[in-house]
Amino acid sequence: MRIAIIAGASLLLASTAAIAYCQIDVLGVSGGPKDKAVVDANGNLRVPGAYRATYRFLGSWSVASDNGSGAKQLHVVYASPGTIEAYRKDGSFPAGAVLVKEVYEAATAPMTTGTVSHANTLKGWFVMVKSDGNRYVHNELWGDGWGWSWFDASNPSTTTSTNYKTDCRSCHLPAQATGWVYVGGYPPLKR
Ligand code: HEC
Repeated sequence: MRIAIIAGASLLLASTAAIAYCQIDVLGVSGGPKDKAVVDANGNLRVPGAYRATYRFLGSWSVASDNGSGAKQLHVVYASPGTIEAYRKDGSFPAGAVLVKEVYEAATAPMTTGTVSHANTLKGWFVMVKSDGNRYVHNELWGDGWGWSWFDASNPSTTTSTNYKTDCRSCHLPAQATGWVYVGGYPPLKR
């Protein structure tokens, strides 16, 4: 009996440790293995290196050309592993969730399906990382529950953004009620 209890207790301990490790791993901002991949100790972001292989596709946006047909830009959005599952469960983004938006200059041509625009030149990335508290209060790229940064295509490790309030916030105000994210464009988040 005693052996069974001890075995049960250590199993519980082991699984608690596994869950804790798992959360840190997924969070990526709490000192876990993926920490350095997106956020450094001061809260500065970078574009996650392997996102095209390891992240999930969320959705895409087409920005219409000002004159003529087709798109002038295409935006392709990815989410870090676990984000979609967590959002579908409770309708909010979990701490550590990373969203990457690629911005492409589009090219338009007649194809057998019609007049078609496709992703052509990558201009850069917008990256958002969901905060797990007030960890980076002195970093002006963090606020309203997220870390925010833009990266030119030539430099995925150093942002050119200086303050999310002037660089990002006003444009994301229409999405404030949905956690600052334009969730309407992402079919995998729909329940
Ligand atoms: C000119 C307005 C504008 C600015 C400035 C802007 N955004 Fe956005 N952002 C949008 C809109 C609108 C969308 C969704 C539609 C689209 O991509 O065209 C979006 C989508 C995103 C997405 C995909 C997830 C989502 O919210 O739907 C990320 C990530 C993102 N923006 C990050 C940023 C960051 C970081 C900054 C500042 C460095 C920023 N944005 C500045 C308007 C803007």
